[in-house]
Amino acid sequence: MQSIVIEGGKRLSGEVKISGAKNSALPILCASLLAPGEHVISNVPALQDVITMGRLLENLGAKVQPSDGIFHVNTENLTKDEAPYELVKTMRASVLVLGPLVARRGSARVSLPGGCAIGARPINLHLAGLRDMGAEVEIEHGYVVARARRLKGARIYFDTPTVTGTENLMMAATLADGRTVLENAACEPEVTDLAACLTSMGAKINGAGTDTIRIEGVSELKPMKYSVMPDRIETGTYLAAGAITGGEVRISGCEPAHLAAVLTKLRECGFEIEKGPGWITLRGCDRPRAVDIKTLPYPGFPTDMQAQFMALMCVADGLSVITETVFENRFMHIAELKRMGADIKVQGNAAVVQGVKNLLGAPVMATDLRASASLVIAALAAKGSSEISRVYHLDRGYEKMEEKLQGIGARIKRAG
Ligand code: EPU
Repeated sequence: MQSIVIEGGKRLSGEVKISGAKNSALPILCASLLAPGEHVISNVPALQDVITMGRLLENLGAKVQPSDGIFHVNTENLTKDEAPYELVKTMRASVLVLGPLVARRGSARVSLPGGCAIGARPINLHLAGLRDMGAEVEIEHGYVVARARRLKGARIYFDTPTVTGTENLMMAATLADGRTVLENAACEPEVTDLAACLTSMGAKINGAGTDTIRIEGVSELKPMKYSVMPDRIETGTYLAAGAITGGEVRISGCEPAHLAAVLTKLRECGFEIEKGPGWITLRGCDRPRAVDIKTLPYPGFPTDMQAQFMALMCVADGLSVITETVFENRFMHIAELKRMGADIKVQGNAAVVQGVKNLLGAPVMATDLRASASLVIAALAAKGSSEISRVYHLDRGYEKMEEKLQGIGARIKRAG
């Protein structure tokens, strides 16, 4: 199994170019199921999750041709309605085919994803919303089986804002009969990007990016030509990498407006941040000040940046309290960070991090995508060498991570 070896202690400096957003590309690929024809999707990151989504679409009968970040997806002839367990278990975002399949084909059979390393992650709100729209939804042999002749517009209230739940139901509602209102909807930029993509296909959507989204159903959509927005979590990850080494990095091809919470916290730590259209620069300080963070739905501090920020707080001056409110079990990186010398205590859904002067390189194991990124960040600052195993987690969500880090001076290589 492959691992990543990092020789820590090198100040990073230079420019990193950001890729298309994973969590935007995945729903946009699914949106292609809504309209028959040839879709052209650009700025698609080369990631394992994107490959998995391509396989899932092919399994449904679509023809998928990726070439240098541009995906041609032909959905003229869909032959199946099923997302099998083998694919869903490797990528929960597979559940995003549910809404589009029911809307276009009147039926879907999608494996229930089950729990994962960051929490139970139920999809009850996706299913309740489809039922509100008139679909019959059953659980049979571990699969969600949903049927509807034509979905009907409905008023749907989410008990808790859910990103993929909002996306699934927004896609379903585009072809429903009448008006759908999604209340307490997720406001994440990925939802807004998907709404823009659907609008380009002829959908009638208002309010994406706020907690109330109104969708007026149309009888058909046309194929898209759409470019995926930049990845805000990748952006934040490279900022944290530059920060922990006291370096000076410029992030290009990004959308600074999507990172307000992260940039505010980095400034509070003492880093100098400048930004302009499509770029952010960070200038390091000797040692960051410890600051508290609490993860929240957008525009709050993203749960997908919690682990990376915790790595930074491990070497901060003082005590930091990191509270995770989105997922109940997203602290798997702590045990590994402690193996590198971090001083962290968990109290319920909060991690109390007492900064230490230095982390020490160690063999560590990645448990999920963002946990892996936090170990890479910690290893970049640690004294000596670290070997991070189970690199496949990183390959799910970071395009060319070693290359990008090498480009700003990191001593990082893949082994095995
Ligand atoms: N929830 C429910 N019922 C539901 C759906 C969600 O109780 O039916 C709860 C979840 O258990 C969680 C909260 O609602 O406590 C929010 O979860 P959400 O549904 O928003 O998460 P998601 O849509 O499954 C997406 C991203 C995640 C990211 C979260 C939160 C994609 C493909 N995934 O997941 O990304 O952490 O939103 O922002 O968009 C990652 O990229 O590493 C990643 C895990």
